[in-house]
Amino acid sequence: MDFKKRAKELRDLINYHNRRYYVLDSPEISDAEYDELVRELISIEAKKPSLITAASPTTRVGVPPDKKFQAVRHREKMLSLSDAFNFEELKEYFKRVKKNLEKEEINYVCELKVDGAALSITYEKGLYVKGATRGDGEVGEDISWNIKTIKSVPLQLLIDNPPDVLEVRGEAYLPKKTFKQINDERSESGLTLFANPRNAAAGSLRQLDPKITASRNLDLFIYGLANPLDYGFKNHIETLKYLKKAGLKVNEKLKIAGSEEEVFNYCTRWSRERFNLPYEIDGIVIKVDSLTQQRDLGATSKAPRWAIAYKFPPEQKTTRVIDIKVSVGRTGALTPVAYLEPVKVAGSTVSKATLHNEDEINKKDVRIGDYVWIRKAGDIIPEVIAPVKSKRTGDERKFKMPGKCPICGSKAIRIEGEVVIRCTGGLYCPAQMSERLLHWGRRATLDIEGFGNEVVKDLLDKGIVKNVADLYYLKKEDLLKIEHFADKAAENLYNAIEISKKRPLSKLLFALGIRHVGAYTASLLAKRFHSIDILSKTTYEQLESIHEIGPKVAGSITSFFKEEHNLKVIERLRRAGFKMKEDLGGKKEKKLAGRTFIITGTLKSFSRETAKEKIQELGGRVASSVSRKTDYVVVGKSPGTKAEKAKELGVKTIDEEELLWMLK
Ligand code: IVH
Repeated sequence: MDFKKRAKELRDLINYHNRRYYVLDSPEISDAEYDELVRELISIEAKKPSLITAASPTTRVGVPPDKKFQAVRHREKMLSLSDAFNFEELKEYFKRVKKNLEKEEINYVCELKVDGAALSITYEKGLYVKGATRGDGEVGEDISWNIKTIKSVPLQLLIDNPPDVLEVRGEAYLPKKTFKQINDERSESGLTLFANPRNAAAGSLRQLDPKITASRNLDLFIYGLANPLDYGFKNHIETLKYLKKAGLKVNEKLKIAGSEEEVFNYCTRWSRERFNLPYEIDGIVIKVDSLTQQRDLGATSKAPRWAIAYKFPPEQKTTRVIDIKVSVGRTGALTPVAYLEPVKVAGSTVSKATLHNEDEINKKDVRIGDYVWIRKAGDIIPEVIAPVKSKRTGDERKFKMPGKCPICGSKAIRIEGEVVIRCTGGLYCPAQMSERLLHWGRRATLDIEGFGNEVVKDLLDKGIVKNVADLYYLKKEDLLKIEHFADKAAENLYNAIEISKKRPLSKLLFALGIRHVGAYTASLLAKRFHSIDILSKTTYEQLESIHEIGPKVAGSITSFFKEEHNLKVIERLRRAGFKMKEDLGGKKEKKLAGRTFIITGTLKSFSRETAKEKIQELGGRVASSVSRKTDYVVVGKSPGTKAEKAKELGVKTIDEEELLWMLK
């Protein structure tokens, strides 16, 4: 194959489809087809690293975390905007512009003011070279690698004769949905929440590890050039058209206004409709369209005189707290929620608002019966800002967080150093069960093949399983009740569940989902205690005296084993056939007993022969041809047809790293 030609073809195809998906919002191929193209390019580039180019889509996340960001001096200063907070102030602004431009005709361009972080991106000869934050306007931070992770940023412009340098300006933002997801996760983990998508976007852009930025689903709009006059453009709208044609993402909702009336109408329209947008806007930017008029108007040291931001009034309302109840999240976090007299805020009716945690309630001193100010963080998450103390009658009641989980009755505790109170009945609590079951079946825990999201949801929804122990008392007929499950699938899952009882103690300990006990701590505990019975009776002090176990972990383990609900589930697991202990006496656990492997391709860490010996040592078998009975096909470098055969037969393939993990 002509790798060079194919790599170019793939790069062009991926960049094309990337643009259709991320910039134009109209994909032509499925995600799976897109992934296939990327996979092919990655594999060619791995074989022939010399073919990797700076604009290759595979380089979007390609550098290790940095220590700190370098300073970048902007070619043109990045100004900010003056604000108008109402139409009166806007009228004043129009008057000033007219006075300065005397009798000239003036067109304005109205744009949405997306609430995110300002960026400057530089292209040289059409290639992406640099991206920076605004900083103090003159000097920003070089966050090139992070901006490169934003998929709507083209790495190569679609212009035939690209200029030597093109410096574009824009706003990076987090969609409202992602903002909510990030805050939900942070809340579950007891981290402080981002107050709004702007802070979340800025925080995500300033991550030293681009992988974290990449995971945040940032997007951006380009709203101008640093120096449009230098390129011979006549007006702003023409500049934007050029940028759009070059492949950059320009917001489509803009409007040219020939009169002030039209500007007011645009502002009124979007102050109502903004709540339906998938991103947050905090106002409208109004710009004089003609670039020569812009030049004549000039700028102060802070802001241009040719543009102004009309800022929407913040949407805050008062209402009454009818009650405060506690909700339980999927990892057991107890969150106090204020139940409110319904009130319309930011486009929808709000009847509940989060109070985040115990400390927040105390700090704000919110009581049941209080009148409170509420708003929506990032337009979507209703929150209580503060009580209106002047309206208190004396009948208000203070709220105290419960000592028990309101869902399952297990003890709820606050581990030292954390703000979140958590239910300790992880193995039993229905609120946590979907998360627990999924964790139970993961490859790194008990590795139950075919036990994914949909199966778990269905088992819970139909009430077939209430906790992890129920899995081991199921009959094959029960599994046939799962949506779209035929005989074979039910049989496979049944067998996979059976096999999972034989996994080593370290995997079981990890599967229990004790907070702060990950794979490493679980295997440490297994080596140290050899038995769940011994571990469950170990005191906090004994645990804490172990070198690698700190107070948080020790506290979490002891409270888990103190909770009766958990112990009952463990007892049922034991009766179902879990050994709960590891054999002593120097014999190595035959943890791969009954498993058949095929090895194809070259392995890095050892020869195929040595790999075979190691698998056999642990009770596994290595066969020479793939069949439906094969459990795993280990795929090394330059694999043969066996990898394809495995795919055809639906046999699980693993890479060398996963094999090493199994052999540990
Ligand atoms: S023009 C020289 N247009 O608003 C004037 N700014 O302080 C440059 N912003 O964070 C700004 N949307 O990044 C302009 N359509 C838009 C904008 C916009 C958001 C941001 C800008 C900066 C702030 C202005």
